[in-house]
Amino acid sequence: MKIYLSQIKNHIDQSVILQGWLQSRRGSGKILFLQFRDGLGYIQAIAEEKNFSAEDFEVLKSLPQETSMRLEGTVSKHPKKDEYELQVSGFSIIQQPDTEYPISNKDHGVEFLFEKRHLWLRSKRQWAIQRIRNTIIYATYEFMNDNEFIKIDAPILTPNSCENTTDLYKVDHFGTDLYLSQSGQLYSEAAIFAHRKVFDFGPTFRAEKSKTRRHLNEFWMMDAEAAFMSHEKSMKVQESLICHIVKKVLEKNNQELIILERDIEALKKVQAPFIKMTHAEAIAELQEMGSDIGPDSDLGATDETILTKKYDKPIFIEKYPAKIKAFYMKRDPENESLALCSDLLAPEGYGEIIGGSAREDDYDTLLKRIQDEKLSAEDFEWYLDLRRFGSVPHAGFGFGLERLVTWISGIHHVREAIPFPRTLGRVHP
Ligand code: 4AD
Ligand code: MG
Repeated sequence: MKIYLSQIKNHIDQSVILQGWLQSRRGSGKILFLQFRDGLGYIQAIAEEKNFSAEDFEVLKSLPQETSMRLEGTVSKHPKKDEYELQVSGFSIIQQPDTEYPISNKDHGVEFLFEKRHLWLRSKRQWAIQRIRNTIIYATYEFMNDNEFIKIDAPILTPNSCENTTDLYKVDHFGTDLYLSQSGQLYSEAAIFAHRKVFDFGPTFRAEKSKTRRHLNEFWMMDAEAAFMSHEKSMKVQESLICHIVKKVLEKNNQELIILERDIEALKKVQAPFIKMTHAEAIAELQEMGSDIGPDSDLGATDETILTKKYDKPIFIEKYPAKIKAFYMKRDPENESLALCSDLLAPEGYGEIIGGSAREDDYDTLLKRIQDEKLSAEDFEWYLDLRRFGSVPHAGFGFGLERLVTWISGIHHVREAIPFPRTLGRVHP
């Protein structure tokens, strides 16, 4: 019977057929240990000389890495561990590489591995990361739908900026300039008047020349937006969403977290309530810790690192100076110089994973902001319409998928969190 390795525990002592790839091989005498994967899992397959013709055993002995093949054999379970083995009784080759596979067990430089990204995705660590990414996506859809947010897809080709005008990728649309979307937020805002609670989840683009471990030029963002949602309520939703995502990864990806040597206890501490402080409080705390950050500054990468290493839960930083935040953010009624916004920072040195705010819902105030920021009122006409017809208080937030994957997987650099990263130095393969 053909089976998947994900189902192996249901087939102990049975004869099964696996289809997949030879990851590596050990042994050479009378017994061979084949590390085999089928895409859904890994197994050690044991081939003993006595069970094969001399000719077949010679073939097995010389099979190169990444040969695609079928293995037939009997499943046995490790007496103590949750591990399984296959006693191989037969095999057939699907395709045998005739050149050496470029990625072996030896240490390759990271640039080489990214150049071979189309192959590197097959390695165990990369396999684990992508499976965690999938759980995060799945858990997000689940949480949003369970909480009555419906998905409304935002366009990628857009006539105007969302976050700022310097980081835009320009695209020629038959003689008109369009820009690749920086966030679906403005379109999600339009959709709340029809559906009240919505989200979008898609690729976003930032032409930033950043070379940090947190920045990509193309990344995936989930934007949530709801009519009548306050800034406070938005933070509650973010907190519940993150707790749900982490819980799902702990449930579904134990094997992957072990492969990545992730500190699972640290993830278990991700429970409500999260830590909350204002931007002013964060600045004071950072200055005490030796940072030279000023009162009107955004947190730099090092600031985020030192602050989030101090706590073992995610931290909301609220109420940034309005002048360093986006034009659409509503001001704090208690202090007009502050924005009614928050960033959520992941612990263990990871830093910002979510940005969110209440949105300016007054037509005249918003128009003035657009003019003050020298944005084109014409391009934003449609957005201003949302304040002309039935404007309501509303709020929303957006998470960066790769930042979440990086933190939850416990990896160092965001570029490993996406199958094919696009950064300042890399757009290939
Ligand atoms: O904080 P940002 O810029 O917020 C927005 O775009 C809002 N329109 C979202 C909203 O309110 N709906 O981006 C949101 C998140 C960040 O917190 C971060 O996790 C991620 O997107 N992000 C990046 N991830 C990887 N590489 C980059 N260059 C990123 N820039 C932002
Ligand atoms: Mg931000």
